[in-house]
Amino acid sequence: MDTNFKIHPVNRFGGESEAVKRPREIACFSYDDKHEFHLDDRSMQWYYPPELGADLSKGFEQFDKHDDSKDEHIDSLLKTIMAHEEEEGKKIDANVVTWRGMMTKIMAAPFDDRDGFEMNATLYQDCIFIEENHTHKQAQKSEQQRTQQGWRQQFSPEVMTYWGYKFETLSCLPRPWGEMSRDFIENRDKEVVSNKAQYCSVVRTGIGKTTLCLGGEVDAIWDSKPTQKGAPINWIELKTSVEIRDDKTMQNFERKLMKFWIQSFLLGVPKIIVGFRSQQGILTKLEEIPTAQIPETAAKRGVKTWNANTCINFASAFLEWLRNTIDDEGVWRIKRRHRSGIIEVFKVEEVGHGSILTDEFINWRIKL
Ligand code: A3P
Ligand code: MG
Ligand code: MG
Repeated sequence: MDTNFKIHPVNRFGGESEAVKRPREIACFSYDDKHEFHLDDRSMQWYYPPELGADLSKGFEQFDKHDDSKDEHIDSLLKTIMAHEEEEGKKIDANVVTWRGMMTKIMAAPFDDRDGFEMNATLYQDCIFIEENHTHKQAQKSEQQRTQQGWRQQFSPEVMTYWGYKFETLSCLPRPWGEMSRDFIENRDKEVVSNKAQYCSVVRTGIGKTTLCLGGEVDAIWDSKPTQKGAPINWIELKTSVEIRDDKTMQNFERKLMKFWIQSFLLGVPKIIVGFRSQQGILTKLEEIPTAQIPETAAKRGVKTWNANTCINFASAFLEWLRNTIDDEGVWRIKRRHRSGIIEVFKVEEVGHGSILTDEFINWRIKL
């Protein structure tokens, strides 16, 4: 059995797209403003357009930043799946369970070789559970910080990351617009920015022959959740990007659109709001982009750097191959080195499930 999956040549994955299932939310959870877990939608937010001209750096000194040095594995996802299975009285039917972020890396792999990735995976009851390899992620972050320090930039990487969260704070309300005071809406610029609270949607979706259960953060909702279970939800993804000034910034934006599209496509988020900013971090323009239109718009504009069908067909083929490869107990590593043309899959622990699965989850499944 070959334990390397070849990414190149990517034209093997061209042509018509494999079947995809529309993602349906099966459950959700929230982290509150202390990053404590709750099995409900308390951290869901409503989109309400921000004022243009805002300085996205404002309040950086007060930023209430989540400490990501601790490995959270897929614990919250497992807890939410357990509660859902208890309600339904049966196991979910997914072949693969993971965070949306891991699937984004896989789908983007044919066209993005800048950042390598490492994931841990384990097979349990006919399903592959995948987590990010936290040690690798932390090392990658320190390396990025080290290399960025050399640049003569006006703003530190920390401030530039803050801009994204600040934009969310300026664009969201904790309740629908009708229930908010004018005072709150007009003073969002004075709110302390925090990235501890999150609303996470857990969906069932499918790519080719593989059924997936994915969990991921959604930034906001446009109106309200439909009462009918599984109906599409008007989620909003918020993104910031530097203003397009010339061919180079245009090409960069077109490349970024691939990531925006994949991320939103996987959870069924229909609309992306891009907040364009100046190089100084001033919010200058808003653009609403329907997720479904990104692939055709890119194709029409003659974008050569990526292709949506290729991303889907690549993911479909890789997932099928992965399900044939991870066929035994233990812990497996899924690894793509920086600029490598292959994804390597190999065993790192002979038995058990490492720290990917919690005892609570394993015991729950034995009982079920
Ligand atoms: P922007 O995407 O507007 O830059 P998300 O867009 O996924 O909802 O994430 C919200 C914000 O978190 C991002 O806003 C960015 O500030 C920060 N962020 C997310 N992923 C990041 C990454 N890989 N590196 C640095 N910052 C990141
Ligand atoms: Mg987000
Ligand atoms: Mg966002």
